[in-house]
Amino acid sequence: MIRHVVGDLYQIGESSVGEGGWHEAVRIYVLLNDGCPLIFDAGSHVHRGQIMAELHTLLGDTAPGYVFLTHTELPHTGNLSAILTAWPSAKLVVSSAILPYCELPWWVKEEQIMYGYAGTNAVYGGRAISFLDGILKDQPGTHWMYDAQTGTLFTADAFGYMLPTNSETLFDDEHADGIPTDWLKRYHASAFRFLPQCDGNKVNADIAKVFAKRNVNVIAPTHGNAIRHNVAQGVARFNQAIMEIC
Ligand SMILES: [Fe+2]
Ligand SMILES: [Fe+2]
Repeated sequence: MIRHVVGDLYQIGESSVGEGGWHEAVRIYVLLNDGCPLIFDAGSHVHRGQIMAELHTLLGDTAPGYVFLTHTELPHTGNLSAILTAWPSAKLVVSSAILPYCELPWWVKEEQIMYGYAGTNAVYGGRAISFLDGILKDQPGTHWMYDAQTGTLFTADAFGYMLPTNSETLFDDEHADGIPTDWLKRYHASAFRFLPQCDGNKVNADIAKVFAKRNVNVIAPTHGNAIRHNVAQGVARFNQAIMEIC
C-alpha cells in the first residue's frame, strides 16, 4: 500500500503474516526528489507484483535515478531484478566493494554500482544523502542512510516492530499512544537473536550518538511503518525494548 509519510517521502510494500497473527512489514521508501526519485531498498520477491504496481503508480513516467541498498538479504533485495528490468538506467548504491563480488546477483553490472561509504555523504539527483554504519544489524555490510531534507534516517532492520492485523499500515501518530514497546520487543528479540548476549546500555548509547549528530524527524525501518510524529518516544520505547531483551 502506498502511504505518504512526510514531504516527498513515501512508504510502499506489504507485510507477511506470521506466528500468532502478527504481521512483519517489508517496506520500501521512496523520495520523489523532483524528477530523480531515490528508492531505499528493493523489497521482497514475495511481494513483487504489489511492489511493482505501487512503484509504477507512485513514479508514473519518471524513472528512479538510484536504488540504495541497506544490505543484501532477500527481503531487501529480492525485488531488485524487477526494478532494474523496469528501469535499467537506475544505479545501485551499496556500502562496500565486496558486495558485487560476494553478495549481489551475478547479473548486476559493475557500471550500475556506486559506493556510499559510512561516514561520507554525496549528492544523488541533487539530493544530499549521508551514510553511516548500521549500529544494529544482522549482516556485516549493512549501512544506514540519512536524508537531511526530510530528516529521515533509514535504519534497515533496526527499529522494526511487529504489527497486529488491524494496524498494518498505521504510522505512530495514527495509534492512540504511539508504537507500543511490546511490538518493538517482539520484533527485535526475533530479528536479532544475539541481543541477549549484548550489553543493552552500550547498544542504546551507540544509538543515542546517531541521533545526537542528526536532526531526525522520521525513522524509516524496513520491518515496520515510519515513525514520523514522535521520534523521541519511538527511541525511548526502542531503548526500553532493548533493555528488556539484553
Ligand atoms: Fe537483515
Ligand atoms: Fe530485514
